[in-house]
Amino acid sequence: MRKPVIAGNWKMNKTVSEAVGFIFDLKNLISDVTDVEIVIAPPFLAIYSAAQAAKDTNIYVSAQDLFWEEKGAYTGAISPGMVVDVGCKYVIVGHSERRQYFAENNETVNKKIKAALKHGLVPILCVGESINQRESGETFNIIETQVTEGLSCLSSSEIESIVIAYEPVWAIGTGKTATGEQAEEVHDFIRGVLRKLYGDIADHTRILYGGSVKPENIDELMTKPNIDGALVGGASLKAEEFAGIVKFRC
Ligand code: 13P
Repeated sequence: MRKPVIAGNWKMNKTVSEAVGFIFDLKNLISDVTDVEIVIAPPFLAIYSAAQAAKDTNIYVSAQDLFWEEKGAYTGAISPGMVVDVGCKYVIVGHSERRQYFAENNETVNKKIKAALKHGLVPILCVGESINQRESGETFNIIETQVTEGLSCLSSSEIESIVIAYEPVWAIGTGKTATGEQAEEVHDFIRGVLRKLYGDIADHTRILYGGSVKPENIDELMTKPNIDGALVGGASLKAEEFAGIVKFRC
């Protein structure tokens, strides 16, 4: 059985006090939820306070990115050790916005995943095709390359803890969610790629869907056999809305 993960990626939103206020609101709304892993990814500056506010709750905190080196002359970068030190259990790696605006590629994604695993963090590897790639029939090729290169040279035991998020770029922030069938088709494909690379471990890997997830569409997505949760952007910014997604029914 794969325990579902519902993760909120706040992107570049919320100050420290807004983050703390959100966690206090959310914890009351979801205190009875035990069968879902709940994750919030605030901006770096709010992680420590959010993690403190989430102590003794069922909410885990994630970073939105990290750098692979441990320390040194890398102005502006945050190391895996720093991320662990402020209370993160998860880290998002390879989000399409990082790929688009910050020159992230499969090679840097792979370095970040290795560094995260070395520090006991659970990486959430994001993959997804653009609308042009989908329309020109390249979706599966793109996804296979992102998964294979992103996870290159990892051992089976390392793969075991990894979470993958399928986020079609055309569905992010557009209100245009992939249908359950469209998402399931790619999730099933990703599990097939994992099986080819790592055998039965594929059955344990959580594969999340991301892209305009809301309380109104989560139930349908979660009925699909290979969709194990969601990575939520816009709808994770309001505690009530995010709690509505955490409390999906299927
Ligand atoms: P939206 O839910 O706002 O479409 O964002 C999805 C996303 O990018 C989560 O990482």
